[in-house]
Amino acid sequence: MALDMDALGKPIGPVSRDYGWRDVILYALGVGAGFSELDYCYEKNLKVIPSFSIASIIEFVSQYAVKSHVDLSGILHGEQELIFHNPIPTEGAFTTSGKLRDYYDKGENKGALVVGESETYHSNGKKLFTSVLTIFARKDGGFGGPAAPKREVEFPDREPDFIVRETPAANQPLLYRLSGDLFPLHADPEFASRAGFEKPIMHGLCTHGYACRALVGNLIPGEPEKARRMFCRFSKPLYPGVPIEVLIWKTEEGKAVWRVINAETGETTIDMGEFEYGDVPEDKIRFDGRVAVITGAGAGLGRVYALELAKRGAKVVVNDLGGARDGSGGGSSSPADQVVSEIKALGGEAVASYDNVADPQGGENVVKTALDAFGTVDIVINNAGILRDKSFLKMEPENWNAVLNVHLNGAYNVTRPAFAVMKEKGYGRIVMTTSAAGLYGNFGQTNYSAAKMALVGFMNTLKIEGKKYNIKVNTIAPLAASRLTEDIMPPDLFQKMKPEFVAPMTLYLCSEQCPVSGNIYNAGMGFYNRAAIVTGPGTVISAKKFPTAEDIRDNLPKISNMEGGKEFFELNAQVGDIFAAFSK
Ligand code: NAI
Repeated sequence: MALDMDALGKPIGPVSRDYGWRDVILYALGVGAGFSELDYCYEKNLKVIPSFSIASIIEFVSQYAVKSHVDLSGILHGEQELIFHNPIPTEGAFTTSGKLRDYYDKGENKGALVVGESETYHSNGKKLFTSVLTIFARKDGGFGGPAAPKREVEFPDREPDFIVRETPAANQPLLYRLSGDLFPLHADPEFASRAGFEKPIMHGLCTHGYACRALVGNLIPGEPEKARRMFCRFSKPLYPGVPIEVLIWKTEEGKAVWRVINAETGETTIDMGEFEYGDVPEDKIRFDGRVAVITGAGAGLGRVYALELAKRGAKVVVNDLGGARDGSGGGSSSPADQVVSEIKALGGEAVASYDNVADPQGGENVVKTALDAFGTVDIVINNAGILRDKSFLKMEPENWNAVLNVHLNGAYNVTRPAFAVMKEKGYGRIVMTTSAAGLYGNFGQTNYSAAKMALVGFMNTLKIEGKKYNIKVNTIAPLAASRLTEDIMPPDLFQKMKPEFVAPMTLYLCSEQCPVSGNIYNAGMGFYNRAAIVTGPGTVISAKKFPTAEDIRDNLPKISNMEGGKEFFELNAQVGDIFAAFSK
């Protein structure tokens, strides 16, 4: 079967896996650690060998193999690169999302390379590691694809700085496989013989784990969290019980090259090893490479979001129509241009969009601006807004519709084309902007309250539709000084309500680390909390005969009781709860 070109770039996962200290220790024992490295093998002061990372996501090898349609009888693990972003905690859950990144052609009868890349996050929200895994597909060459980029690793012309000799036990693969790689070639003598081997062979990644211990032990002793990157090419199989030597050369500050040889034959079993190490980078939330669309970013909250995102590396589309507070007027390019200039002056990247989000074509254009300028869109903050306050009887259709058009339809018009891009790439962060007026009510704002609460309903369903694609949708309810609030707030309070107090919450909801979807947060003046739709436990009055209005009156305290109230992620969960009430 030919390689599946359509599989390139398609999201694989996310796949989640819980792990605990026993898994960490089992892996350490599997790669030869023991009493001399007790930190890897004893739950007291436990440390994680960095290469535990790849062993924990090994199912991605088969995912890449199956999804690419390689000939499974010809595959070998070719190369492995690991980039470590944050220390690996000793327990928690890994969530990994990957994709097939490249296919390279070595030529007819010479094989192909299938490259898969994945990112793994911890349940604490931190990005832990990136894996770039290359499968050497021996039987898939000659498909007419590009040649692989040349990779050279220069080894110094001198003796290694460190030589670490070890002998994996004759049973080593039987222990190692319990960390996840159950391929029979490493356990089943018959299978090994059919594959042309005398007996089961070592897992390449088991030998890789020995190398990782040797690298950490000599270059960053006792500080495995300082491993930053590890690369290698698997070159020859190895039998368990054969002594190996890990040869390490320091090349410059924080860098080394390494290889593993079979100490009996002198043959290289893992080649072209590179290892980088150093301090754990500052744990900053960054948006490098991300493209953010912010509507209504020419002033107020949107302007501060745009500046803060750009300062942290995002490329920003500053959308603003530049109209009056009530949405009237022909619009002006100056607010958006002004913010773009401010971002550029800070060394950031931004483009302006003057489109009206209330218009479907305007929404399309905002997203097109992002695609034309930066090629993608990762983040949408639906922030544009106007006010047309009137007590209800004075609320003519014109004022009702104008407010719904900007807030609610505006969010729809921009989010829909952006969601298509996000779904395709398997990543997205969307923030809706609600208001306390919608969540709790405010005199004279029926139009605005309706629009703002509608955005919560919009989020509730979009979070479900986006879940599979790592698209997270949350809602901010800000409280900030702007032209929308200047005549509502007392002047002394107005001074304390800088949009900069709201921005951190919104930025976090836009970040890769954001662990939540479908949540509403109030933010203002340095105070933050979550608002939620909570449903009371309720009561069954009668399932046999229709209850009367009097029954409702008499039971209203029980019906209204919120003690023990619950939140539901989706409709089905709430309906399930009703059925459960009957079975009690
Ligand atoms: P702002 O008036 O300073 O900013 C809103 C921006 O949206 C303006 O620059 C305006 O030109 C732009 N805009 C209006 N209609 C547009 C359209 N059709 N297309 C493109 N851009 C358009 O107001 P502020 O306070 O910064 O408000 C931002 C968001 O936060 C709004 O959605 C608002 O309803 C919401 N909000 C604000 C609160 C506050 O305390 N400031 C309270 C609750 C919600």
